[in-house]
Amino acid sequence: MARHLITSALPYINGIKHLGNMVGSMLPADVYSRYLRQRGHDVLYICATDEHGTPAELAAKEAGVPVAEFCAQAHDAQKAIYDGFQLAFDHFGRSSSPQNREITQEIARELKANGFIEERAIRQVYSNTDGRFLPDRYIVGTCPHCGYDKARGDQCENCTRVLDPTDLINPRSAISGSSDLEVRETKHLFLLQSKLAGEVESWLDERADNWPVLASSIARKWLTEGLHDRAITRDLDWGVPVPADTWPELAAENKVFYVWFDAPIEYIGSTKEWSDQDPDHRDWRSWWWKSEGDVHYTQFMGKDNVPFHSIMFPATQLGTRSPWKRVDVIKAFNWLNYYGSKFSTSQRRGVFTHDALEILPADYWRYFMMANAPESDDTSFTWEHFTATVNKDLADTLGNFVNRVLSFSRKRFGDAVPAGRAAGEAEAKLGEEIARLLAEYEGHMETIQFRKAAAALRALWSAGNSYLEEKAPWLEIKTDEEGAALTLRTAMNLIHLYAVISEPFIPASAKAMRDAFALTDDTARWVTAEEAKALASVPAGTAFTVPPVLFAKITDEDLAAYRERFGGGDPAAA
Ligand code: 2FM
Ligand code: ZN
Repeated sequence: MARHLITSALPYINGIKHLGNMVGSMLPADVYSRYLRQRGHDVLYICATDEHGTPAELAAKEAGVPVAEFCAQAHDAQKAIYDGFQLAFDHFGRSSSPQNREITQEIARELKANGFIEERAIRQVYSNTDGRFLPDRYIVGTCPHCGYDKARGDQCENCTRVLDPTDLINPRSAISGSSDLEVRETKHLFLLQSKLAGEVESWLDERADNWPVLASSIARKWLTEGLHDRAITRDLDWGVPVPADTWPELAAENKVFYVWFDAPIEYIGSTKEWSDQDPDHRDWRSWWWKSEGDVHYTQFMGKDNVPFHSIMFPATQLGTRSPWKRVDVIKAFNWLNYYGSKFSTSQRRGVFTHDALEILPADYWRYFMMANAPESDDTSFTWEHFTATVNKDLADTLGNFVNRVLSFSRKRFGDAVPAGRAAGEAEAKLGEEIARLLAEYEGHMETIQFRKAAAALRALWSAGNSYLEEKAPWLEIKTDEEGAALTLRTAMNLIHLYAVISEPFIPASAKAMRDAFALTDDTARWVTAEEAKALASVPAGTAFTVPPVLFAKITDEDLAAYRERFGGGDPAAA
């Protein structure tokens, strides 16, 4: 048994997330956490909403509520959806928590004491009408290169050139539209990453070879481009305040830390939120402090987040000179697209998590997303592919097997598992096959390869179908009742095994399968190779019930309705 700390990238507070966000962070972290828990490990799965920054401020403004109130509501709304997806966090916190404020400020103090934070004066655009400094992307104007009149201060969307706000012709505030702007000098804190580059590199050399290749290649690429010093404060009303005891002048100017400085620290903050709820039994420090070697820490995220987690956050941690736990493995994901092009929150293109749950239960989505996780490449969501996967794998291969076996047995042998003859050659062959596939499945889960794991799981389900087709108990029963009873008992044992091993992917359906059997002492633990071979965990005589159909098929009419509602796109382009 080992201690596993697992975190998934913190979802931004503003806006409901789409399936592309979910598949690259929270869902895989949940599947992995569930698997490790079932295998008996001590697992702590931590996540939170990422609440600071300009987008949160602006979203609150648009909603016409104070930003703290906006965040509290939005946090609850997101949490309800994640509950719907059965994401089993140990804690889902908030980066605006007092715990995160305290730890973020303490880390900043330590970085300063060790000479890794410095004050520097920079020139920034100030809007007199808005009464604030404007982040680069909130200044719009005409691009000096192509004449596009809605270019942002950081980049022109039209010609993709990188810009400086002072390059813009007729600059104005994106918040108020005012052109009453001026350039002012202002002081900010800089994290001296350049001084930490060597240490980060050796740290990465030690670790990244064991990471799945997507994360390690991005991390190395960033490192070769050089680690630059970064401004880690902003002029905003909403964020972790710069501590007045350490930087009185900046605190008086209401500077707050940049959202990407405090967000990863919230992995620690959220753990402390969890531990503060029950301090007698929970100890956040045992997960984060001096726990190198004792705790194994895995992070899940989309590929755009890798530089922050593989370089910047470790640099922050290293610079404190305190024994913070650093990540052991980063599992990153490519993009899930919608019919070949991007999901878009602003254009509401694609499937959003609340809509997904409104039309179908979580397990359908969980299975589809993980079986098609964008691990080695970007992948595409299409309603056609989703329908085909649900109907074939979930409804036909798994659901139909469960219902067919239980209904038929009940009809012919009543509501207890029949005994029948002792297991024969076919059962021995089946047991070998199941044990082999189970080992494969476990191997892929251990190395965090979800598509391969899902394929192995599907193969396990299929093996049951092949056995059933071969033995054909509906024919067998006419000439050999004992034989038919053996076949059904074996098949029911497969159902129970499926319940256990499918739980990480489809927890609700797994529970329905498990609950079909009135077993006393049916713990959540995993299946050993011997048990997989023997297929005898559910003894003859165990009472059972037939659960309602596990997975309803998606009909042609449903498919047409989904395409209509969500905008189909061109399947050929996917
Ligand atoms: O990209 C994002 O969605 C960020 N909110 C992820 C933050 S991860 C962590 F560092 F907090
Ligand atoms: Zn341009």
